[in-house]
Amino acid sequence: MGFSKDFMWGAATAAYQIEGAYKEDGKGLSVWDVTSAPTGRVVHAENGNEACDHYHRFKEDIKLFKEMGIKNYRFSISWPRIYPKGTGEVNEKGIKFYSDLVDELLATGITPLVTLFHWDLPYELYMRGGFGNPEFSDWFLDYTKTVVDALSDRVKYWITINEPQCFIGLGYSEGGHAPFLQCDDRTVMRMVHNTLLAHGKAVKYIRENAKTEPVIGFAPIGPVHIPKSDSPEDIEEARKASFSVAAKFFSLSLYSDPIVLGKYPDEAYEIFGDDMPEIKPGDMEIISQPIDFYGMNIYYSAAPMVERGYMDNEYIGIPRTACRWLIDPRVLYWSPKFMYERYGLPILMTENGMAVTDCISLDGKVHDPQRIDYINRYLLEYKKAADEGIPLMGYMYWSAMDNFEWAEGYDMRFGLIYVDYRDQKRIIKDSGYWYKEVMESNGENL
Ligand code: GCO
Repeated sequence: MGFSKDFMWGAATAAYQIEGAYKEDGKGLSVWDVTSAPTGRVVHAENGNEACDHYHRFKEDIKLFKEMGIKNYRFSISWPRIYPKGTGEVNEKGIKFYSDLVDELLATGITPLVTLFHWDLPYELYMRGGFGNPEFSDWFLDYTKTVVDALSDRVKYWITINEPQCFIGLGYSEGGHAPFLQCDDRTVMRMVHNTLLAHGKAVKYIRENAKTEPVIGFAPIGPVHIPKSDSPEDIEEARKASFSVAAKFFSLSLYSDPIVLGKYPDEAYEIFGDDMPEIKPGDMEIISQPIDFYGMNIYYSAAPMVERGYMDNEYIGIPRTACRWLIDPRVLYWSPKFMYERYGLPILMTENGMAVTDCISLDGKVHDPQRIDYINRYLLEYKKAADEGIPLMGYMYWSAMDNFEWAEGYDMRFGLIYVDYRDQKRIIKDSGYWYKEVMESNGENL
């Protein structure tokens, strides 16, 4: 059976990771611009000030996307480039940048998929309480309105938020991402609720006001537990573990159940107790506005820690990426399967990819057989889910180009395009040309 004829092949990026021009043409600062600066928070004290300079090079980059046969391109909008202070005055030059970007994509035959929020919270809103401020969802709604009014005549596909598990869990609980805080559960749960309200208000506005029929989703991180065997008992055990809230702010169901099922998982009340947020009448109805697809950012499978340094699905010498993430292609079968069973929505793989210690070889090319093998293995598993009749909308490889990998800086290279940050030279890697053949064959050559 394979992938459907309208399967969306593409690649993804995010504003802060590629654009640079961090304070150009009226752009305001984001929480990453400011709070990641102190030494020790980002490897080599690197930042997104210049990144891949995509702000100035987007036409060149889009030509490279075309050379790779990319048909769909997921990118994010920088909120502080639209609203330098997060609310109030709009930066028209910011609007123009994204309008020109969309026009260039469409002129090149590439369909844009827009992520509204990919972690670059306006710093001025962070200083006003950010996700913790009850006004947050209205701030986000104003931002959404401005972007949708400007782009929805040409943009059809919308992703509201990218990985709340990271921008909330890492940013405000574990402390490894901007703004590098470790808040109490009551505070973070309030942030979760305000973020979910923001998602719901955005979905409602897009649905009711987009100038073309919208297709709307969100992009949680989504590793699931792999069954230890094909026995019904082991599958049920893995399913239960995958939707457990034991991982608290890093869990799947804490965000996905409210958005799709209209209620927090029962286990959240057991775990958070009095720290659960106040749910006002109408909140859950707003949060669970109908969406059209379930996005998934997936790289590795989940498992409980069994001993220091090892998870239950790891073994000595297990194949790993440059990020030291275990390589487990089975997750691209089980994640769509479990998500579709629970949520009943078409699945869009909004991110999957591999960091490799890529370098330019003597022949001036970038040979990355590991990435080719990784993508091949993961897509074969994803195709198994398709063969079972799970509706798969598409696959966006992360990432179209090497970029700023948050607290890991620029060492972690995920791209199909190599970026030499010294002179911003781009080189399409072997995987970029291989992926072109995969897309052209609709995955039949895997
Ligand atoms: C994420 C983010 C991306 C990352 C990518 C590799 O999923 O963490 O969406 O911005 O760069 O996933 O970690």
